[in-house]
Amino acid sequence: MTQGYFIGLISGTSRDGVDAALVLFEDEEPRLLHALTLPYGEPIASELEDLLASGREPREAAGGMLDEFLGRHFAKAARKVSEEAGIEMRDISAIGSHGQTVWHAPDADPPRSIQLGSPQVLLRSTRATVVSHFRQADLEAGGQGAPLAPLLHRRLFFRSDEERAVLNLGGIANITFISADGRTRGHDSGPANCLLDLWIRQERGLDFDENGEWAASGRPVPDLLRDLLSDPYFARAAPKSTGLEYFNRAWLEPFLRNHPALPADVQCTLSELTARTVAQAVSESAGSVARLLVCGGGAHNTDLLGRIAALLPDTRVEPTSQHGMHPDWVEAVLFAWLARERLAERRQDTRLITGAREPVLLGEVHHPNHT
Ligand SMILES: Nc1ncnc2c1ncn2[C@@H]1O[C@H](COP(=O)(O)OP(=O)(O)O)[C@@H](O)[C@H]1O
Ligand SMILES: [Mg+2]
Repeated sequence: MTQGYFIGLISGTSRDGVDAALVLFEDEEPRLLHALTLPYGEPIASELEDLLASGREPREAAGGMLDEFLGRHFAKAARKVSEEAGIEMRDISAIGSHGQTVWHAPDADPPRSIQLGSPQVLLRSTRATVVSHFRQADLEAGGQGAPLAPLLHRRLFFRSDEERAVLNLGGIANITFISADGRTRGHDSGPANCLLDLWIRQERGLDFDENGEWAASGRPVPDLLRDLLSDPYFARAAPKSTGLEYFNRAWLEPFLRNHPALPADVQCTLSELTARTVAQAVSESAGSVARLLVCGGGAHNTDLLGRIAALLPDTRVEPTSQHGMHPDWVEAVLFAWLARERLAERRQDTRLITGAREPVLLGEVHHPNHT
C-alpha cells in the first residue's frame, strides 16, 4: 500500500490552478513520473476572487458550491495526470489533495485554516483513496498548520556536509533551514508573488511579471521599502505563517497612499521587499547558509532571484532543478509524499517548524468502500 503510484494535488495562494504530480515510490525516494497544471477557468476564478475580496472568514464555504466545483476540478487534474502518464486510476495507491486555501488564521481563537476542494467529490470521481485536510491535526496540536513543505525539503535536499536552505516562492514565500546534522526548521517569511501579481494585474492587466522584467525596469523607492519592512509580521519570531487574508490589496494600499511612486518602481520595491525579508530570515534563523535552493513559480523570476543572491553574497542561490526536482512540482510532490506517510501511519515532527506540541499524523483518509 505504501509502495507504488501516488498523486499529489495542490493549488497555492497564487490561485493560478491545480498542480498535479504523479509520483512513484519504490523505496523512500519519490520519483516524479509526470506533472501538470490545470488552470482555473470560470466560474471558479471569479468565485474565489469574490470570496477572498470579502476579507472575511468564509464560514459556510466547506460543503458549498465552490467546495464542490473545486473538488471536480481537482478530480479532473488527477485523472488527466494519470491518463497522460499512462497509468490507470485503479493502480493509484492514494491521492493526497491539499485543496485550495481560502482562509488561514492560525493565530485566531480558535485557530482556523480552511481548504476547499471536497475530498468526497474527488473520491467519487476517481474511486481512489483520498487523503485531505493535512493542516488540521497540526493546528489542533497547537501548530501553525503551515508550512508543511519543510518536511519534504528535508527528505529531498538534506546533505550531511552542507548547511542548506530551501525557499519556496509561491504567493507567499516559505523557507526551510536544513542543518548538516539534519535539524530542520522553517516558516513563512512573507509575501512573494501575491503582491507582484496583484500590482501588475491592476496596473497592466497581466497575470504575472514574466521573469520579473517589469520590476527590473524600475528602481526601489527607499521610503516605501522602509515602511513596508516595518510591518510587525517581519519582526515576529518563528513559528509563523501567513496568507492572503493579511498580505493583500488592503494591506498594500495605505503604504502606496503615503508614498506615491511610478508603477514600475512600486513593482521593483515589492520584489525588493521579498528579497530583503528572505535575506533577513536567513540571517536571523541560520546566520548564513552555503546554498539556497529555490522552488515555486517565483524560481522563474530572474529579477527576484538576482536580488536575493545580491543580498546573500556567501550563499549559492540555485533552482531545485539542479538538485533533482523541477521547481514547479515540489509542492505537488509534497502532497503525494504526505499521503503515503499518512497511509504508513507515520507521524511528522513539525515541532521546530509549525510549533506543534508533539509529532502529528497529518491528513484525513477517505476510502472508496466507505462511501
Ligand atoms: N516566468 C515567470 N516569471 C515570473 N514569475 C513567474 C513565472 N512563472 C511563474 N511565476 C510566478 O509564480 C506564481 C505561481 O507560483 P506557484 O508556485 O504556483 O505559487 P502557489 O503555490 O502560490 O500557487 C505565478 O502567479 C507567478 O507570479
Ligand atoms: Mg500555483
